[in-house]
Amino acid sequence: MENKHTDVLIIGTGLSGLFAAINIDPKYHVTLLAKTKVSNSNSNLAQGGIACEYNENKELHESHIQDTMRAGAYFNDEVAVKYLVDNAFDAVKYLVNLGVDFDVSKAGDFLFTKEGGHSTNRILHSGGDATGHNVIKDLLSIVRKRENIEIIDNTMALDLIKQDNRITGCIVLRNQASYYHIYAKKTIIATGGVGSVYGSTTNDLNATGDGIGMAYRAGCVFQNMEFVQFHPTALYSEFVTSRQRFLISEAVRGEGAYLRNVEKERFMIKYDKERMELAPRDIVSQAIYREMYDTWTDHVYLDTKHLDPKYLEKRFPTIFNRCKKEGYILGLDLIPVAPAEHFLCGGIKTDLSAKTTISNLYAVGESSYTGIHGANRLASNSLLECLVFSKAAAKDINNSIESIDQVSQTAIKGIPNYNYNYKPIRKKIGDYMDEHVSIVRNEQGLALTLNVLTDIENNLTKYPNLTKYYYETLNMASTARLIAKAALERKESKGCHLRIN
Ligand code: SIN
Repeated sequence: MENKHTDVLIIGTGLSGLFAAINIDPKYHVTLLAKTKVSNSNSNLAQGGIACEYNENKELHESHIQDTMRAGAYFNDEVAVKYLVDNAFDAVKYLVNLGVDFDVSKAGDFLFTKEGGHSTNRILHSGGDATGHNVIKDLLSIVRKRENIEIIDNTMALDLIKQDNRITGCIVLRNQASYYHIYAKKTIIATGGVGSVYGSTTNDLNATGDGIGMAYRAGCVFQNMEFVQFHPTALYSEFVTSRQRFLISEAVRGEGAYLRNVEKERFMIKYDKERMELAPRDIVSQAIYREMYDTWTDHVYLDTKHLDPKYLEKRFPTIFNRCKKEGYILGLDLIPVAPAEHFLCGGIKTDLSAKTTISNLYAVGESSYTGIHGANRLASNSLLECLVFSKAAAKDINNSIESIDQVSQTAIKGIPNYNYNYKPIRKKIGDYMDEHVSIVRNEQGLALTLNVLTDIENNLTKYPNLTKYYYETLNMASTARLIAKAALERKESKGCHLRIN
């Protein structure tokens, strides 16, 4: 396959990748890269919604800023949080103007819901609990009509190309067969989350930390990698074989659901008297962990029995139908749930324009660290982060791309290709991360895991293999090692990083 040239290369087709592409000036050629199908992404699975104070009056933004800081254990970058909240209205309005529908009342006013850590109802949603799916569907149809945007699916970005300390594109593998370079004046990493490094996650299983791995090999700076958020209520089943767990949105608790332990006792009063089931996620997940430990079980229950099943079916159609398939009726049955890995609060360090520490490379969405989440992300701030920082990246690119000359080609490195089964290595990574780098952590477990992961990563690096599975496994090993290392170094508990010694 021939090498390609583009102006802007965007790696990933979740909300941040698509929104960045739409915001790039149409006079520039954009290449959007999807590892598998274009519609596969964590954004597509997002249920809750988009947190937004939908007004221009900055005085009214203060409570969203304070809720974000409090949920993040005040470990957030306050300037970044203010930037996020103050730019929310513009970013969401732009989305609405593009034709994205959010749920409205009979009178036509937006319906706002509440999730953990929010002091007020400020979360916009679409299709009840299909926010991510609906937003992605609408943006994809816009992107597909834009003549300046080329979408390449089933193509994995293997490594960034670095010349004279700046990024000039990436090396890709298409359909597990053609290997070539895509040169770009500007490159954006929008590869999403890291869920696959754990044994159970709410993420799409394609989330193997690819952007993190690539950026690490290119020499980017990382921050806050120890802060991995576990969602408190993934649907639990004893018989589940997939590592992907179905998410039951926090918005169900926002609409009044309770948590009960296996003795059927409500327990949140012991952990957060004021906010109860609507405390931020770190507090609720840690409380569930404690209850499961004390009752010798691996799940608790979500109780919606005091709520109207008809309303729940209308408000949460995706969740209602999935639970029904598993034999539970929302509003009638207790739903078994347990925490599962959900979101990486740290990542590739960026500034307010989403620029990384390497020239011409940007990072947006979950792979980035913008400073807004602190030690624990406030619910439904992630889709908002995708919008605000992708828009900022596109603005910076539109303003600076003209000053960059067409990049020159580099030699294509020969990489061996052989048959190798990476499944046992992936399982080992997941097992160690679950056991020692999960909700509760200790020095001995973290040190042991760091040693194991360092060995895995070193061995993989020694024996390169030109396959998607090799690069995914290498990215998983590097991502997991960065998390374990940061977790070992941070001795005190903070937000979703709970150290018992
Ligand atoms: C949820 O709907 O509970 C997840 C939303 C989020 O992760 O912000």
